[in-house]
Parts: sequence; C-alpha cells; structure tokens
Amino acid sequence: MARKINVGTLISGGGTNLQAIIDACANDEIDAKILFTGSDNPGVKGLERAKKAGIDTFVVDYSQIIKQSKNGISEDDLPSDFDIEEIQNKQQLISTNENRDQIEFFLKSRAIAEKKLLDKMAFYQIDLLVLAGFMRVMTPYFIDRINTEPDIYKIMNIHPALLPSFPGTDGYGDTFKYGCKIGGCTVHYIDYGEDTGPIIGQKAFEINDDDTLDDVKSNGLIKEWELYPLCIQKYAESL
Ligand code: GRF
Repeated sequence: MARKINVGTLISGGGTNLQAIIDACANDEIDAKILFTGSDNPGVKGLERAKKAGIDTFVVDYSQIIKQSKNGISEDDLPSDFDIEEIQNKQQLISTNENRDQIEFFLKSRAIAEKKLLDKMAFYQIDLLVLAGFMRVMTPYFIDRINTEPDIYKIMNIHPALLPSFPGTDGYGDTFKYGCKIGGCTVHYIDYGEDTGPIIGQKAFEINDDDTLDDVKSNGLIKEWELYPLCIQKYAESL
C-alpha cells in the first residue's frame, strides 16, 4: 500500500469526475485524500459535492477577473513575481503569430486569476493537483509555482478524447463530428501547451453508427470516472 497522498482539486462545473474521486477515496480504493476543491465558477454543483463530502472549497471568479482586466491592467494588478517576457517565452498555448497585445492580455489576466488561486491553495500542502473538469488553461506562471522540482509533474488533467487527437475544449464533440468509431478519454500531466503533457492513462469505448453526441458524452464520462481514480493511484504508488 502506498501512503495516502494529499490532493487538491479544481473544477468548473458539475463535478462528476470529482465525485468519482471522492467516492474512490471514501471507499479506500485509492491512497488519496482530497484537501480542497476550488472552482473558477461560483455556484456550480461540483462545489456542493465537495461540501457534502466535508472538503474545503473556494472560488476564484475568472470571468469577473477577465472582465475587470478589460478595463486595463496596471503593474499593481499583476503578481509581484510575474515577468511577462519569461511567461511569453515559455508558453505554448497561443501561437506567437497572434496579435502581441492579445497574447499579453491573455497571459496577464490569467496570471492575476492564477495568483488568487495560488493564494487560496497556499494554506494546503498537496502532493498532487487534480484538474477535474477545470475548463481554464494554466499559464507557465501557475505551473512553475506548482511544479517546483525539475522534471516532476504535479498537475493532472482529464481530457475527453484520445490524445493527441482532438485537443481543445470539445473533445467528444470533435470525436463525434469526425465520425470516429472509437472514442476515449485521457489523463495527462499539464505542461506549457494545451493538452500536450505526458499521458498517464487512457480508456476507449466504441461509437456505434446510431450513437448520438449525447451517447458519446455519457459513454465517455463513464470511462472518465473509472480512469481518473486509477491514474491518481498510479501517482500515489510512484511516490
Ligand atoms: C469532462 O468530460 C472532462 O473530461 C471535461 O469536462 C467534463 C467535466 O465533467 N474536461 P464533470 O464536471 O467532471 O462532470
């Protein structure tokens, strides 16, 4: 048996993956304990699920921060340890051919939100951060403050497609629209790109000719709920 690892979780919505992890912890199927659940979105069901399980919760309202940032970002708004040149050089989320002002706005506004997340998380000592349906990308500003040891990844994400196919926000939709006969989900580590980090585990399912997009989503979620706890356990056993 591995020692119990301390896990932090971030969500954006319904939190069915979070629930699967909560249940796996409660049933001693995995050697993990969830210390907190944070959300970028107030009032979502996932926060209720966490509270019901006795887990601390917090919200960093990304939409509000981005809206405020559109009125202008001053040096004082940015984290004191934020260096735009450094983050621009490291990030692989946006093509450098894009408009420079837009890239700067994106990275700065996200770093403001990420600093608030880091402040909320600072109270907890975690071994692993699990993104369970967290619908925001992480910039190198955030990633480097979690991955503090060289070459050790500490942030996991679940993606609704068999990566490297169909990165982005609509994995099941893209799988379905392409006409794939196999769909799947992937748990991977977060690196500086979008859905590009090392793969930890995958599960696949068949897509029948008469399946609808809703069928693909619901069959995929069932696989996600199986896969995420297994990957967390794999991590716990690796420590
Ligand atoms: C999942 O399909 C996950 O792969 C994707 O967003 C969905 C979240 O579902 N990133 P839930 O909030 O865990 O129910």
